[in-house]
Amino acid sequence: MQKHFQEQASSFDELYGTDTNEEAPLQRTLRPGLFRRRELAVSVVRSYEKPRVLDVGCGSGRIGEFVLEAGAGEYVGNDFSRPMLDLAEKRLERYGDKVRFVEGDFLEAELGGPYEVVIGLGLFDYLPDPERFARRMHELTADGGTVVGSFPKWTWVKGPVRKIRYEWINNCPIFNYTERELRLMFGASGFRDVDVQKPGRSGFLLRAVR
Ligand SMILES: C[S@@+](CC[C@H](N)C(=O)[O-])C[C@H]1O[C@@H](n2cnc3c(N)ncnc32)[C@H](O)[C@@H]1O
Repeated sequence: MQKHFQEQASSFDELYGTDTNEEAPLQRTLRPGLFRRRELAVSVVRSYEKPRVLDVGCGSGRIGEFVLEAGAGEYVGNDFSRPMLDLAEKRLERYGDKVRFVEGDFLEAELGGPYEVVIGLGLFDYLPDPERFARRMHELTADGGTVVGSFPKWTWVKGPVRKIRYEWINNCPIFNYTERELRLMFGASGFRDVDVQKPGRSGFLLRAVR
């Protein structure tokens, strides 16, 4: 999976639209989930005063740009794909020392903290051991802080296509979730308030407060 995101950094980044074609309406129509999940992260960031934000699996910095504009006081992007971090560093350069990147596996990296907002968008799709990620997110979240996550759900429309594309063609296993699993996993990790929304057909958005 790490290899997949090292090789596919630019093509993932372009799902949002190219830089000259930023936020193209076509991309929004084709991939509403990508934009919806970012909007949730932005609204959670806005609900705090200059929050410290940790973006786990920050990829090319497409979320970072928006949460910084929304008032994040500090932004730490963590990813284990160097090509993704190269794109993110370039994209967020203008925010200066508000921004820091940590390269490495989330479960092992030195990430400081605690953070008022911890983001995991487009991340849990690829994790064979999501419970460990939820527990580590809890450790890094400040009391009263929030984790924002996105989670795919199996559907017979998109499921088989995703399976073939990721697992058979790209050798990158993917995982699906149910609402019950999410409530249990984040509840057992210590979050006191777990809100799971189902905005589209193919996934969940979660907000968990510590
Ligand atoms: C689909 S991309 C999503 C990027 C970004 N969050 C977004 O929504 O635009 C998933 C990212 O998670 C990173 N990732 C996956 N597992 C990770 C891990 N264990 N530690 C750090 N990064 C990880 C990948 O390298 C990739 O850049």
